Amino acid sequence: MINSIYKIKKIKSKKNKMPIVCLTAYSKSFAQILDKYCDLVLVGDSLANVLYAMKNTHNINLEIMINHASSVKKGLKKSLLVVDMPKGTYDNPRIAVKNAREIIRKTKCEAVKIESNSKNYNIIKSLVDAKIQVMGHIGYTPQHKKKFKIEGKTLKEKKKFINEAIKIQKAGAFSVVLECITGNTAKEISKKLTIPTIGIGSSANCDGQILVTDDLLGLSGFYPKFVKKYVNLNKVIEKAVQKYSKDVKKKFFPSKVNSY
Ligand code: KIV
Repeated sequence: MINSIYKIKKIKSKKNKMPIVCLTAYSKSFAQILDKYCDLVLVGDSLANVLYAMKNTHNINLEIMINHASSVKKGLKKSLLVVDMPKGTYDNPRIAVKNAREIIRKTKCEAVKIESNSKNYNIIKSLVDAKIQVMGHIGYTPQHKKKFKIEGKTLKEKKKFINEAIKIQKAGAFSVVLECITGNTAKEISKKLTIPTIGIGSSANCDGQILVTDDLLGLSGFYPKFVKKYVNLNKVIEKAVQKYSKDVKKKFFPSKVNSY
C-alpha cells in the first residue's frame, strides 16, 4: 500500500516536468526488460487481440487477466503495475470493488484501469473510496465503442472529452489514458487536468505515452499511423526459426555441445 502510494505520487509529480513512459506487458520476460525503462506497465485487455487472437477485447475474462498480471508482477521491481478491468467486471460499484480487490489480492498490482463510457464516474469513485487506485481511459474505448474513429475532432466532442476527463479526475483517478484523440483536444485536456494524461495515438500533447509493446516490436501485425515500429521482430524470429528448421533437417542440431 505504502509502496503503491509512493509510486503513484512519483508518477503524478512528473506532470509538466518529465514525460511519463508506459508500455503494456503480458508476461514476466517482457516485464523484466520494460521495468528498466518504464514508469508504468499496463496489463491491457489488448491481450485479447494480441495473444488470444480474439476479434475484440469483449470476451477476455478476469481469470486470464489475473494470470498474465501475476506473471508480469514477477518481472517488475520498480514500475507501477496497472491491470485493465475486463468488460463486464465493473458494471456496478459493488461488483467493481469486489473484482478490483480480487485483481489486487491475486496479482499484487498497484492500480486498475477502467474504460469510461461517459457515465461510470460513480464506479471510479467507489473504487477510490475503497482505497483502490484507478486509471481512467477516454477517447477510443474498445470495450464500449463499436467502430474505430479518431476522437475529439469537433468542438462539441472536444468539450465532451474535457468534461469527461474532469469528471474522472474529480472521481479520484490518478491519471487518464487518452486513446486516439486529436492533438488539439489532447492539449486542452492535459492543460485542464492536474493529473497526468497518458496518450496513445493522441500526439505529444500528453504528459506521457503508452503503446502496446508487441506493436512497437513489430510482433503484432497491427501498425496504424500512431505506432512507431522500432524493430521488426517477426522477421528476426522467422530467420531464427528457418535456421533451426534447416539445422534439424540436416542433423546439424543438436550437435555435441547441445547433447548430454
Ligand atoms: O488494452 C490496452 O493495451 C490499453 C492500452 C492500449 C492503453 O488499454
